[in-house]
Amino acid sequence: MSDIAARLAELERLGLNRRLRLVSGPQGPTVLLDGKPVLLLCSNNYLGLADHPRVREAAAEAAMRWGAGAGASRLISGTMTVHRRLEERLASFERSQACLLFGAGYLANLGVISALAGPEDAVFSDELNHASIVDGCRLSRAEVIVYRHLDVEHLEWSMRRDRARRDGRGRRLIVTDSVFSMDGDIAPLAAIVEIARAHGARVAVDEAHATGTVGPGGRGAIAEAGLEGEIDVTIGTLGKALGSYGAYVCAEEDMVRYLINAARPLIFSTAPSPPAVAAALAALELLDERPHRVQRLRANARALRRALSAEGFAVADDDMPIVPLVLGDERAAMEMCQAAIEGGVFAQAIRPPTVPAGTSRLRLAAMASHTSADMVKAASVLAAAARELALDPAAIGPPPSRLPTDQQTAADHEREEAALYEPQALSSSVPFDHEQGTPPEHAPFDHERDGEFARAA
Ligand SMILES: Cc1ncc(COP(=O)(O)O)c(C=O)c1O
Repeated sequence: MSDIAARLAELERLGLNRRLRLVSGPQGPTVLLDGKPVLLLCSNNYLGLADHPRVREAAAEAAMRWGAGAGASRLISGTMTVHRRLEERLASFERSQACLLFGAGYLANLGVISALAGPEDAVFSDELNHASIVDGCRLSRAEVIVYRHLDVEHLEWSMRRDRARRDGRGRRLIVTDSVFSMDGDIAPLAAIVEIARAHGARVAVDEAHATGTVGPGGRGAIAEAGLEGEIDVTIGTLGKALGSYGAYVCAEEDMVRYLINAARPLIFSTAPSPPAVAAALAALELLDERPHRVQRLRANARALRRALSAEGFAVADDDMPIVPLVLGDERAAMEMCQAAIEGGVFAQAIRPPTVPAGTSRLRLAAMASHTSADMVKAASVLAAAARELALDPAAIGPPPSRLPTDQQTAADHEREEAALYEPQALSSSVPFDHEQGTPPEHAPFDHERDGEFARAA
C-alpha cells in the first residue's frame, strides 16, 4: 500500500475522509446536490448576491470589456482600472484611507501576517482563528502565542508575559477573526484594541464573515463596535456576502504601500480576475442601495434559530447567521448530514482540522434569499434526521462553553498555555489547526530569496 493509500485509509477509519460534492446551478436557496434538489443551508453567500442578476451581469460585462483574466501579479501587469475602482469603493465602504485587493481571503491573511511579523516578533492569535490566519502565522516564522477563544484576560496575561520575556524587543501583532467562521460568535474587539494600545501591539481583524452580515449597512463588526479608524489592518473577502471571489485589506496609506512591498501573495500571485472584481463592485452597490438585505438575512437567521429551538435543539434566540449544531463525534456529524440531505436539506458536516476534535458539527448558514418557510422546513428535516439517528436534539447546539475567565487563576493560565503549546502527536488523527501553538517542527524557509521581490517588482 502506498503512503497515500495508507493515509486515505486512516482518514476513512477516523471518520475524517472528505470528498467533493457536486452542486449544479448557482448558490441559490435551493440547489441540485449530486442531482438531488435540496435546500442549501451551508453557503457563505449570506446576502444571496452570488446569484443576483445585477451581479452576474456585471461579471459578464466585465469579461467582455476587460477580458477573463488579469494576466499577471498586481505589480507586473495586473493592476487594472477595475481593480482601482473597487479599491476606492471598498475604502469608502470601510471608512478607511486605502484599500488593496488580494486574490483571496486566504492569501490576504498570509500576506498581512507575514508582512507584519517575522522571526524576531510575536503574533497573538485566538485559538479558533481561521486556518488562513494559522498559516499566515506559520509563514511569518514569528513566535505564535495562542490565546483562549475570546479570552481577553488570557490575551493580556500572555502579552505581559511575552513582554517581560523578550524585554520589549520585536514587533507584536494581535490577529483575530471578528465573526468566527465555525461558531458565529464575535471577538471582543474593543477590549483587544485597548490591550494592543497598552502593549504597543498592532491589531489585524479578519471580517470575512462579518462584512455584509453585521454592523450598520453590513459594514462589519468593527463598524458595529464603533472602532473604525482604530484597527491597523482590516481583512475582508469578496467571496462570501459579496458573492464573488477575491479579497481586500483596508488600512492607512502607508500600511497599504508597505503591504504592496511586503505581502508575498500580492507580489507573487495573479491579480483577481476582472469579472470577479466587477461582480464585487456590483454587490457593494446593491448593499449600499438596499441595506435591508442585511435585515432580511438576520430575520432569516432568527427564524431558523427559533424553528430549531421549537424542534428541541439547544440554540440561542439571536440573529447571527452562522448556527453551529455541535454533535461532537465525527461520524455522528457525517451521518446526520447524510440523513438531512436525504430529507432535502444540505448542511455540510464540519470536522477536524477545521474544528477542534470532539466538536464536529453541522454548520448552518442562513441566507437573505431563503424564506422563513425554508427555515421551518430545515429545522423539521434536521430534527427528523436527529431522531432517525436516535440523537436527542436537546443535546445538539452550540460548542461547549468554558470556565468563565474570572474564575481562573494565573496558575490556570500557565497550565492552559502549556496545553496550547503542547506539540500534538501527529501519529494518527489530523491535528486541529491551531493546536500546535508555535509550529514546533517548522522547517526553515528554503526559498528565502530577497531578490525575488526585486525581480517581481
Ligand atoms: C475567517 C476567514 N478568513 C478567511 C477566509 C478565506 O477567505 P477566502 O475564501 O476568500 O480565501 C475564510 C474562508 O473560509 C474565513 O472563514
